[in-house]
Amino acid sequence: MEQYIIRGGTRLYGEVEISGAKNAAVAIIPAALLVQGVCRIENIPQISDTDTLLTILAELGAKVSYVSKSTIEIDCTHASYQDAPYDLMRKIRASYYLIGSMLGRFGSAKTTMPGGCNFGVRPIDQHIKGMRALGAEVDVRGGFVYAEARDGRLHGARIYLDKVSVGATMNIMIAAVLAEGRTVIENAAREPHIVDLANFLNSMGADVRGAGTDTIKINGVESLHGGSYSIIPDQIEAGTYMVAAAATGGEVLITNIIPKHLEGISAKLRETGTSVEEYVEGILVKGPSELRRINLKTMPYPGFPTDMQPQFGVLTCLAKGTSVITEGIYDNRFKYVNELRKMGAEIQVDGRVAVFEGGRRLTGALVHACDLRAGAAMVIAGMAASGETQIEDVNYIERGYERFVEKLNALGADIRVRYDEEDMRQGRLLSSF
Ligand code: EPU
Repeated sequence: MEQYIIRGGTRLYGEVEISGAKNAAVAIIPAALLVQGVCRIENIPQISDTDTLLTILAELGAKVSYVSKSTIEIDCTHASYQDAPYDLMRKIRASYYLIGSMLGRFGSAKTTMPGGCNFGVRPIDQHIKGMRALGAEVDVRGGFVYAEARDGRLHGARIYLDKVSVGATMNIMIAAVLAEGRTVIENAAREPHIVDLANFLNSMGADVRGAGTDTIKINGVESLHGGSYSIIPDQIEAGTYMVAAAATGGEVLITNIIPKHLEGISAKLRETGTSVEEYVEGILVKGPSELRRINLKTMPYPGFPTDMQPQFGVLTCLAKGTSVITEGIYDNRFKYVNELRKMGAEIQVDGRVAVFEGGRRLTGALVHACDLRAGAAMVIAGMAASGETQIEDVNYIERGYERFVEKLNALGADIRVRYDEEDMRQGRLLSSF
């Protein structure tokens, strides 16, 4: 496995362009299976999760072609129900969207239970509840999910989610688009990528209303047609560069963003004394000479995003005073604090609450990327620390950040990628900077 070797102590300066939103793309690609015609999708992030999903679609008979690095055309007209590459499905969380899209398109689905980052138990009971309400028999056995529309087609239903779930909201939307009649999802999640998925589906002929509120109404249509769509910029990628600028005392203009999606992140950064200025073309972040302590709690959108929690954890290690971070979404998203402790951080964790005793200088160490965002947090810690930091298991990071090392180095970071000899022999070089 490759490692990142970071020489710390450099400030980030310059401009960085944000890529398309991962968590929108990983739903929109499976949703393309519903469309009989060519979907041209722009602003696709080049990350391993999207590559995996495109490979799965191709195995189901889709024609996938790259128009440019970030624009693809997917034609699922001749896709057919068949066994999918289950080893690939198992690797990623977003394979659960294939339950909705295969059910909607073929009336049947067989997928693996989803993989993805391990933050403790991550059930999919709300997805299953939704599919059952739409008239599917769903059975989980041997690590697989089997779903079958009782009379070959799904039927609209009123579904109240017991938990606000991004994945369940989007999966039910995908399944309901071609169902007969009207579906209403109540207590729906409201993240920007939910609106993006609705906009994508509507631009292909669907009738989805209310996305972005907690009640989404979907009037089923007979078929979807091809079209063109551009994915929104990635809120979490942008937030990660904002924190990197603040943590290194740098000055970075972040472009291709939607400031509204960053409001929670910007507000918390301002509390740390970081300057955040919004412009038409982007957001300018200037790190202060001394970061101030903060408290934060992660919540569903428009609350503070859980996917920014580890990055802010690093910031609070550097800020003067004691900060408290409460994780409101997952049971076990503080594994990265063990890695920060290796760098000299003082952090106490009790369940979903972590207390950061800040103001200590971090020093380089050999650490591990526990998951995607924790990995990004360790990169920020390495850049802010003195000395050299080596990060292992960086494949997690490459699942969700496009050209992360290249973009950071262009801002003045000093990061090298050390490749595994086995990967080199097999020619599995990802990005070399
Ligand atoms: N939950 C249930 N039952 C369900 C679904 C969710 O109990 O059927 C619980 C989860 O265990 C969690 C909470 O509800 O406690 C919220 O989970 P949600 O379904 O919203 O999360 P997800 O769909 O599994 C997506 C993103 C995550 C992001 C969360 C929250 C994808 C592929 N993943 O996960 O992204 O953290 O929403 O915003 O879209 C990341 O990008 O690093 C990442 C982990």
